[in-house]
Amino acid sequence: MKTKVKEQIEQLRATLRRHDYLYYVLNRPEISDQQYDTLFAELKQFEAQHPEFITADSPTQRVSERPIEGFAQVQHSVPMLSIDNTYSDQELREFDKRIRKGLESDDFEYVVELKIDGLAISLHYESGRLVTAATRGDGRTGDDVTANIRTIRAVPLELMNSQSCPAVLEVRGEVYMPKKAFSELNKAKIEAGEPEFANPRNAAAGSLKLLDARITATRKLSFFAYSLGKVSSPLAQTHWDSLEKLKALGLPTNPYTAKAKDIEEVIRICDSWADKKDKLDYAVDGMVIKLNRYDQQDTLGMTGRSPRWCIAYKFPAEQAETVVESIEVQVGKTGTLTPVANLKPVKLAGTTVKRASLHNFDMLTKLDVRCGDTVMIEKAGEIIPQVVSVKHKQRNLFDSKPFSIPTSCPACGGPVRKDDNGVFIRCINTQCPAILKERLIYFVGKGQMDIDNLGPALIEQLVDKKLVKTFADIYRLTFGQLVQMDRMGDKSAANVMESIEHSKTRPLWRLIASLGIRNIGGQTAQILAEEFGSLEDLMNADIERLQAIEQIGPIVAQSVYDYLHDPENIQVIRDMLDAGVQPAAASKKASNKLEDLTIVVTGTLKNYSRQSIEQTIKDHGGKTAGSVSKKTSFVLAGENAGSKLDKARQLGIEIIDEDEFQRRIQ
Ligand code: IVH
Repeated sequence: MKTKVKEQIEQLRATLRRHDYLYYVLNRPEISDQQYDTLFAELKQFEAQHPEFITADSPTQRVSERPIEGFAQVQHSVPMLSIDNTYSDQELREFDKRIRKGLESDDFEYVVELKIDGLAISLHYESGRLVTAATRGDGRTGDDVTANIRTIRAVPLELMNSQSCPAVLEVRGEVYMPKKAFSELNKAKIEAGEPEFANPRNAAAGSLKLLDARITATRKLSFFAYSLGKVSSPLAQTHWDSLEKLKALGLPTNPYTAKAKDIEEVIRICDSWADKKDKLDYAVDGMVIKLNRYDQQDTLGMTGRSPRWCIAYKFPAEQAETVVESIEVQVGKTGTLTPVANLKPVKLAGTTVKRASLHNFDMLTKLDVRCGDTVMIEKAGEIIPQVVSVKHKQRNLFDSKPFSIPTSCPACGGPVRKDDNGVFIRCINTQCPAILKERLIYFVGKGQMDIDNLGPALIEQLVDKKLVKTFADIYRLTFGQLVQMDRMGDKSAANVMESIEHSKTRPLWRLIASLGIRNIGGQTAQILAEEFGSLEDLMNADIERLQAIEQIGPIVAQSVYDYLHDPENIQVIRDMLDAGVQPAAASKKASNKLEDLTIVVTGTLKNYSRQSIEQTIKDHGGKTAGSVSKKTSFVLAGENAGSKLDKARQLGIEIIDEDEFQRRIQ
């Protein structure tokens, strides 16, 4: 009797999984939603009567019944990269030229995909079971959002044909909120008097960051797989075939993915989607073009942050017409004066725009933007609105006058100077409170020291009351001082103190990024942190040492050097360390066993994907190269290795197999 019930339960589960597959992967449902719900209710009832047969991957177990406390961090074993953007046919042709040059061949094809506007997720399957799901985060470490991802019906908890699936399979893809679900959600938000989400991407991201998966489950999120992370054995030799394999394993891939034999065909496909995309039930902000063959991807490798074999084509931004109500000048964290137009509110690509950057005074003069003008605006990178043109003919000539360029800082009245390249005007008063506020706001920001509860309004007060004059002063604030600020009770002051305390052990790269050194963002800060391992070593580095870092250009090297050799900056850093800031050391290399070695990998490896072998080589201090030359230290050859082996033999370069490689790094 018991075994019979168990069988029935398993049968029902298999049926439900099959219908999920038909619906999400094949887009060919065989039953109505109502019929699905009936089967689901039946399974639920069986399981309620026989709880001993409930398993974690049963379709009834997607939603956990208890909220979690917070998100754990997950280290990505293969980094989640970003891709470069292009905006024109011309740029796509240039991308194609670079590919041809890099491959020294015309024998390749592309895969063209829709660029889904959601957020990237990495799904980690072990023996066919979903174990962890993580957000991209900073590309290396993301949030563990497994409980929330499990609620998405398009994400299989268990893969089909799992016997043919690698023991470890990391699938990457986009979680998105269908447009219909997005507008329903916003409608409900308005009715509840809550703020709306600006766009489906924000709504999807917000839904995944909920601590209570029961709410996420109501958000109707969906998923498309588009690439691989770590895999214990390769799925295929090409991206296209991998997508096919993923589909066979029950993972939804986008049905509009196409092969293109050359860049002209790519361009035709991209063009064909410019209008068609609006008819889809999910937001698409461009196309992604990928080289199909993995060995060719591998030959091209990547630049600091993105692969050379892949590019995004972004559709032209939507434009809107509005009126400039006033122009104000903002002072940025490096003292740059930026003119900003306050606009008559207008809807643009899903949000209401009230302000737009005019970038700099050259731009303002060139466009000749004036108060009262009718202008066209668009969103740069779909996020920051900017003025692109002025309808001069519509100008009222009687009361229109050109904007006068400031000759002193609008915040402190101090002197201003034009940059060496003659574009930006900066306030050069080192004591300018507006600059200090901006630098502090940046310092405490999410991507930097991430000090929760220390927001712009509080920073403004702390600077005005002269309690904070440098970054170090943040770490000298006392509870007594904080509690005296406006709108600050005991509890809030304690929260601020706790957040400040918490930030003292942020990773080294975040501290470097937070200093606001010109030209240094998070990515470069990570490179510096990895290269030097400690703040001391970075501060002691001479300019030659900085210039020798491969991914860092001379301007960036000079910026870092100048900043860290300025006596005032040195003092502030020392004060911060004295006040207890102890940046966590950068993740050290696994070993130096491959130090100074340049390794060429070819063929298919048993235990590594392309990306994971590159990362492993890097972790042990080595470098990878795409082609064999005299500089190659050795060639690591897997199955089906091709012409690179002949070249290595010709040049007398050592060839080793995967087992030998493993021995060398142990
Ligand atoms: S491939 C190394 N394919 O776009 C390649 N990304 O701007 C990694 N995205 O972070 C990404 N649709 O979140 C790829 N078909 C697609 C995509 C896609 C959307 C997102 C993804 C990525 C971002 C890059």
